[in-house]
Amino acid sequence: MDSLSEQPAGADRLIDPQRLWSTIMEIARIGAIPGGGSCRLSLSDEDRQARDLFASWCREAGCDVRVDPYGNMFAVRAGKGAGQPSILIGSHLDTQPHGGRFDGVLGVLAGLEIVRTLNDRGIATERPVVVVNWTNEEGVRFKPGLTGSAGFAGYLDPAAVTGSDGEDFFAELRRTGYAGTAREGFDILAYYELHIEQGPVLERADAAVGVVEGIQGVRWYKVSLAGRDAHAGTTPMDSRKDSFMAAAAIALDLRATALKHDPDLRFTVGKVTVEPNSVNTVPGHAELLIDLRHGDDCVLDRFEDIIAAAVKRGAAQEGVDCAFTRTMTVPPVTFDPAMQERLVEAALQVGVVPQRLPSGAMHDASNMARIAPTAMVFVQSRDGISHNPAEWSSPAHVATACEVLARAVLSHACES
Ligand code: GLV
Ligand code: MN
Ligand code: MN
Repeated sequence: MDSLSEQPAGADRLIDPQRLWSTIMEIARIGAIPGGGSCRLSLSDEDRQARDLFASWCREAGCDVRVDPYGNMFAVRAGKGAGQPSILIGSHLDTQPHGGRFDGVLGVLAGLEIVRTLNDRGIATERPVVVVNWTNEEGVRFKPGLTGSAGFAGYLDPAAVTGSDGEDFFAELRRTGYAGTAREGFDILAYYELHIEQGPVLERADAAVGVVEGIQGVRWYKVSLAGRDAHAGTTPMDSRKDSFMAAAAIALDLRATALKHDPDLRFTVGKVTVEPNSVNTVPGHAELLIDLRHGDDCVLDRFEDIIAAAVKRGAAQEGVDCAFTRTMTVPPVTFDPAMQERLVEAALQVGVVPQRLPSGAMHDASNMARIAPTAMVFVQSRDGISHNPAEWSSPAHVATACEVLARAVLSHACES
């Protein structure tokens, strides 16, 4: 299915696919980059513009927009009953440096589309429906990632948030006008997140949507290697303390071990910094940022020990000092079985059979699942590509996924 007209058969559609699609494309113009993607690093001027636009759309839709101390935005559509717990729908508007148009954005704007749909149809829900934009999900500009949802869920040490470009997270919240004061004490009945799959499973299964069973655990590490700056021409090869060579040996050693260790383990050296980064100086300092993922905490524990040992070994071989620290911990989570069933039922109503699958990517739902019943819907990604301007999900699939979410949210928000 490639066009909006090719919708699956089933009951009448609730949402407006064309409105959802044009909303996504309008946000994508903010921070547009070659190849069709967007670059809106968290709390950059582009992110601020996207936030402002989202807030204005939510206010037009009659929502009360609140901001908490982590810059998380909550667009609240009140429910009928006083003191009722809320249904939250969220994701993130920030992107990777070479981001696509759908990662995160789809989940936030699907929430907005659901609110607009409820308005169009004059539906008053029993419970409030709250659309959330979480701050710094991607973790590009500030570490750790999932910052806003971790803060909201009570799993963030604010003092441990660091800026990759030397900026201070809380100062940037103030600069962009998103240092909120409302410490939201939502009583949460459920948290839903719609996201692109970012992998190939749904496309291979020819399934438009997936119901996600859970998310694998993620840990981030920093390895610092301190050798000695030296002249590239005059320093003999056997008298160097080359921090880059230690870093390279550690990375290659760990990749080889990871390949043998467990087929579901994901080991990535995503960032390497070398100093002074000058062609004719032996680098005296290097830093590796490592991303490690698996669905079982025990496997992560074991591989963490392997990393620690490999760092010591590689550093000793080159005669450099080393430090190894874990900078982020997101435990594996399993989603709420009843909410998964509600999503399956909604998909069947729309005439699609959803594929069940785990999530390889982390999401704000990882944090929300620690404090509230949580579930996710995935939409098929073309060629499984994400974190890339070529990221694409077809209009028809996007509409189907949003329709599934709308039906699940509506039944959940109305049930007495
Ligand atoms: C989020 O994009 C992740 O790193 O999984
Ligand atoms: Mn995302
Ligand atoms: Mn992402």
